[in-house]
Amino acid sequence: MPPSPHPLAELDRWIEDAGEASAPLPSSVAFVTVGDDCRPSARTVSLKRIERDALLFTSALWTRKAREMESNPHVALLFHWPSLGRQVHITGVATLAERQLARELFAERDLPNQLQSIVSRQGEPITDLQTLRARHAHLAATMEAPPACPEDWGAIRVVPDTIEFWSEARDRLHDRLLYERDGDEWATTRLAP
Ligand SMILES: Cc1cc2nc3c(=O)[nH]c(=O)nc-3n(C[C@H](O)[C@H](O)[C@H](O)COP(=O)(O)O)c2cc1C
Repeated sequence: MPPSPHPLAELDRWIEDAGEASAPLPSSVAFVTVGDDCRPSARTVSLKRIERDALLFTSALWTRKAREMESNPHVALLFHWPSLGRQVHITGVATLAERQLARELFAERDLPNQLQSIVSRQGEPITDLQTLRARHAHLAATMEAPPACPEDWGAIRVVPDTIEFWSEARDRLHDRLLYERDGDEWATTRLAP
């Protein structure tokens, strides 16, 4: 089959395939940033949307990932669906998405997750979880309307410049197809496994 001309449409299909195959958390993806000290760091995030040219997820903006992508916007993402024998490796440039989108995606979160963003300064040292749990439970019991999107919570947009699709083969000669952005087009190269 000839390679799809639109790698992000292909990625969308792979995520859909993973969902249909009941792979756990099909939209979870490792997000890798590099700090000022040139040291990489990784964490899992949940992909929220695929746009024509970009991927979107959300994050608190005081966190390490947000600080690192602000000083160095070059990032990587890695999807892996072990039960399908598939992996997708993306490199690209991350920016903060428009405020309206952050509000929209915050409103789509369920209440426990919205309240978690409000009561917990993700990544900061704490002495125990009890105080946070008590505040979370108090807000859940007393809030009359869903909370507004905090100013320091946002959507992150990654515009890929390379996307590599890796597909396992029984004979171990796995298929690797690399897409490289070339202006508005994508060039494809098949790589040895
Ligand atoms: C399955 C899964 C999904 C997650 N989704 C997100 C997410 O969408 N956004 C986010 O900021 N953190 C998410 N997290 C938490 C991050 O992995 C991480 O702990 C947090 O963002 C702090 O990372 P940082 O301090 O490196 O910025 C998720 C964790 C897991 C295990």
